[in-house]
Amino acid sequence: MPAAALWSEVLRVLKPGAYLVAAAAAKNCHQTAAALEAAGFEIRDILIWAYKMSFPGSQKLEGKWRSGLKTNHDPWIVARKPLEKGLTLRQNWEKWGTGGVLCGEAGQGTPWQSNIIHCEKPKKCDRNLGLHMLSPKLTGGKKATGHFGQAVQANDHPTVKPLALMRSLCRTFCPPGGVILDPFMGSGTTGMAAVADGYQFIGCELEHEHFVKACLRIDHAHLHAKTIPAAA
Ligand SMILES: C[S@@+](CC[C@H](N)C(=O)[O-])C[C@H]1O[C@@H](n2cnc3c(N)ncnc32)[C@H](O)[C@@H]1O
Repeated sequence: MPAAALWSEVLRVLKPGAYLVAAAAAKNCHQTAAALEAAGFEIRDILIWAYKMSFPGSQKLEGKWRSGLKTNHDPWIVARKPLEKGLTLRQNWEKWGTGGVLCGEAGQGTPWQSNIIHCEKPKKCDRNLGLHMLSPKLTGGKKATGHFGQAVQANDHPTVKPLALMRSLCRTFCPPGGVILDPFMGSGTTGMAAVADGYQFIGCELEHEHFVKACLRIDHAHLHAKTIPAAA
């Protein structure tokens, strides 16, 4: 898990008042929140990503007893870089365009954005979207089926996030036309969601194989934004 020293590099490059959403799990979200706070972020909320499909704790003990409950949510930490010193929230918003969340408007027929988002885990076609150009060398020759039935190389990243969820988060926490940073981009789901809605995107990834996948998938989203699933 990223330590405070790494989060302080993220803090350094964000605008004052910019939001950060860190994926976490029930077992470790307290450590993620503590590391973010130690780096200088303000903890603002816990966003629940709720899903139906999952399995109970893996170790079977006896009869109906196992090592853990079935998990149906991930608690993600919502934090914010402090506002510019001396500015009110409104002044910070006017100067930097940051500090607010897209919440909805009373009487406009859209529900307020809740801090619980229901979205199923990504299907194969979501995971593999944009990978039809990928060399079999990087995937061990695995193939799968894309949105339009074409053969694609499988995305074997272990923690791919749903495009619909990431699209919803980009829209909620970044003003239109803003820059979205994912310092741990894996196979590039955040980048795909970001460019599909016209945001600029900066991503970092340690593993070359994942980086290549991310670039291909983000290119795909850039060229074929209509193939990206709607926000959750
Ligand atoms: C949870 S995954 C992200 C998955 C991504 N959301 C997706 O949908 O594919 C985290 C990624 O961060 C990368 N990572 C870990 N430490 C890193 C670091 N210090 N700098 C850049 N990337 C790092 C890992 O290789 C991994 O692919």
